[in-house]
Amino acid sequence: MRGRKVLALTAAVLASMLVLTSCKEQQSSGNLRIQVGVASYNQGDTFISELVRSFKEQLSQYESDEITTTVTVKDAAGVQRTQDDQVEELIDSGCNVLCVNLVDRTDPSEIIDLARENDVPIIFFNREPVAEDLMQWSGLYYVGAYAEQSGEIQGELAADIIRDNSSIDRNKDGKIQYVVLEGEAGHQDAIIRTEKVVDTLRNQGIKLEKLSYGIANWNRAQAENRMTQMIGQYPNKIELVLANNDDMALGAIDAYDKLNLTESSRPVFFGIDGTDEGLQAIVDEKMSGTVYNDKEGQAGAMAQLAMALVSGEGLDGIDFENEKYIYLPYQKISPDNVEEFLR
Ligand code: GAL
Ligand code: CA
Repeated sequence: MRGRKVLALTAAVLASMLVLTSCKEQQSSGNLRIQVGVASYNQGDTFISELVRSFKEQLSQYESDEITTTVTVKDAAGVQRTQDDQVEELIDSGCNVLCVNLVDRTDPSEIIDLARENDVPIIFFNREPVAEDLMQWSGLYYVGAYAEQSGEIQGELAADIIRDNSSIDRNKDGKIQYVVLEGEAGHQDAIIRTEKVVDTLRNQGIKLEKLSYGIANWNRAQAENRMTQMIGQYPNKIELVLANNDDMALGAIDAYDKLNLTESSRPVFFGIDGTDEGLQAIVDEKMSGTVYNDKEGQAGAMAQLAMALVSGEGLDGIDFENEKYIYLPYQKISPDNVEEFLR
C-alpha cells in the first residue's frame, strides 16, 4: 500500500515537472518561467556589465506568485566562436529567450540558425546586426540607441564649453588641436560617433585641427597607452580629447595623471556613456562632459520585450521602429545636471 502511494506521488511530481519544462503548458497552468540567456561580447566592458546588472534587476521585478525569472550570463571574452557555442549551451539548458550582444556584429548567422531551429527568440542589444540579418526571421529584435545622436550631443557639449572658456585654446591660434580615442574598428558606435562629433563641432563654428587618433577598443588601459604615446608625440599641444566612451576618456585622464601633468598643460576631456566612474569624473571636474547612454532604459526595454515574447501576451504595448527595433535616446550630462544621473 505504502509503496503504491510513493509511486503515485512520484508520478505526480514527475507530471508537474513535465508541465514546468514545457512552455505552452506553463501558461495554462499559470506558472510562467522566464529563462533568459544573456550572451555578452565581453563582461570586462564597463558599460555592458552595468547594463546587464540593470537588466537582471529590472527583470526580477516581474516576479510574482505565477512568474519566476532566471538569468544566465555567458561571457564570450571577445571571441565569436565562443559565443556561438555559448548560445547553443544556453538553448540546451532550456532558455526560452536570448539576449545577444554579438562579438562580431556582421556574423550572427550561426546564432540566428540555432535560435530559429529551436524557436527561441533573440533580442540583440548594443551591437547592432545589419538589417538584412535581422530580417532573416520574425523572432529577431534589436534594442540599442541612436549612434548619431551620441556624436551630435558630444559635439554640442564640447562646442558650448570651448566657446565659454577661451583658455582651452592654449596656444591662442584660434583653432582647437584635438585627438580622438576610438572604440573598436567596425563598431557602429565608434564610426558614427567620431564622424558626428567632428561634424557637429565644425557646424557650430569651432575651428579644429586634428593631431592624431588612437583605437583603444572601448578600454581604459588601452586608451591610457594610446594617450601616453600621443602626449609624447605632441607635447603640450593637445587641447581637446574626444573619446568614443567614458572608459577611454578616463584612460586618457589616467595618462595625464601618471605623467604628473598639471592644469596648464591638460586638455579638456569628453566621453560617452555616463558609467558610474564616468559620472564621478564629472563630479570631480576631471571630465568636462559626457553623453548618457541609457543603460537603464535599454535594460528595461529588453526585460519588457523578453516578458512579452515568453508570456505570449503579444507585442502590442511595445513601441517598435520598423517592427523590430527599439532605440533609446541619449542625453547630455554636464556638471550642471550630473546630480540627476547619480543613483
Ligand atoms: C557602446 C558603449 C561602449 C561599449 C560598446 C560595446 O555603446 O558606449 O562603452 O560598451 O558599446 O559594444
Ligand atoms: Ca589652439
